[in-house]
Amino acid sequence: MTIGIDKIGFATGRYRLDMGDLAQSRGVDSEKFSKGLLLDALSITPITEDIVTLGASAANSILDEKDKASIDMVLVATESSIDQSKAAAVYIHSLLGIQPFARSLELKEACYSATAALNYAKLHVEKHPQSKVLVIASDIAKYGINTPGEPTQGSGSIAMLISQNPRLLELHDDNVAQTRDIMDFWRPNYSTTPFVDGMYSTKQYLDMLKTTWAEYQKRSGKTLADFSAFCFHLPFPKLALKGFNKIMDKSLPDAKKEALKANFDASITYSRQIGNIYTGSLFLGLLSLLENSEHLQAGENIALFSYGSGAVAEIFSATLVDGFKSQLKTNRKEELESRQSISVADYETIFFEEDALDEDGNASFADYVTNDFSLVAIKGHQRIYEAKDGQENN
Ligand code: CAA
Repeated sequence: MTIGIDKIGFATGRYRLDMGDLAQSRGVDSEKFSKGLLLDALSITPITEDIVTLGASAANSILDEKDKASIDMVLVATESSIDQSKAAAVYIHSLLGIQPFARSLELKEACYSATAALNYAKLHVEKHPQSKVLVIASDIAKYGINTPGEPTQGSGSIAMLISQNPRLLELHDDNVAQTRDIMDFWRPNYSTTPFVDGMYSTKQYLDMLKTTWAEYQKRSGKTLADFSAFCFHLPFPKLALKGFNKIMDKSLPDAKKEALKANFDASITYSRQIGNIYTGSLFLGLLSLLENSEHLQAGENIALFSYGSGAVAEIFSATLVDGFKSQLKTNRKEELESRQSISVADYETIFFEEDALDEDGNASFADYVTNDFSLVAIKGHQRIYEAKDGQENN
């Protein structure tokens, strides 16, 4: 029995901030963002969109009624949670109408936890081959106005359906993880934005990559020559490019090096337009690779590097399955182009709007553009979500 990713879906904020506009407004040379960070635009969410609406929309784009009857676990990985107690997975389970006898929970370790969720899902299907598990990585990356991290913000969610005999990617058993207790990026409960030691975080990312990759090669006996592509966690694409250069084996034939670079470029295509989506960003890189690479073939292997500040890293691998292209979208770029462009002033208002609760814990919101679901109100401190077809869930 093979186990892996059967379907993959994506949702991102429906507003787009142009990096050239942000650079101009901040008095920065626009090439610092376009070449220094490799970013062209960011996806911005309004107050009516959160990890629940993004996650439900990403999953809604791939699930059919048969899937909803077979899913018996919903895992949501996030570092921008909306509640200290209730899991976003419970809201999403309800919004999607998944059968009731399911386990739903939320996982956290910065940008890493979706990788752990994927592994948990795989182990679950190994034990219960008829089960399907919905893994969602959902985040809104918010650093604050005029901070060093500001140009690397973003929002989005990746949903993956894990099953036996997957039609997209078969996951292997070669995972190697590493944990290091460091303070590179963290967000105490009382803060809406993270504390970041930016330069230190990039050094740790690269060192965790180098050391985990060395251990992975030692344990698995595999080398870069065994892979057609290497996907990286993408806080911003330039850091992943540094990672790619770090693991490059200079003894490989030029043609192999060029093929790996072409696939790397395919893997950052979407992130360049979206920014950081924290837990989902590695998998957005994977989706971007699969939908934009002109060379990938069934049977080829892909390595993945997951990194979550704090810090936990993991390298694992997967093989493309026969017919994988039928599981992918061909109009994703058009969908991204259809986002509504906003000015820097509008971005500053929309992205940083906070709930204005009355004394009874009620709030209502302006009518913003969202994906398939939106947060329509807060009533007595309870978040009320609605599908675009008008059905209310609370
Ligand atoms: N033209 C072209 N390039 C230019 C330029 C210009 N005019 N001006 C500057 N640059 C280049 C710089 O040379 C640099 O490139 P290199 O690193 O290749 O030298 C790049 O633009 C960035 O410029 P700076 O070095 O001046 O750095 P910065 O002020 O933009 O800050 C950062 C970079 C500290 C990483 C900041 O973006 C940040 O704090 N980001 C948030 C933290 C983060 O993403 N960390 C990543 C690892 S942690 C993680 O992975 C978890 C997560 O998701 C957050």
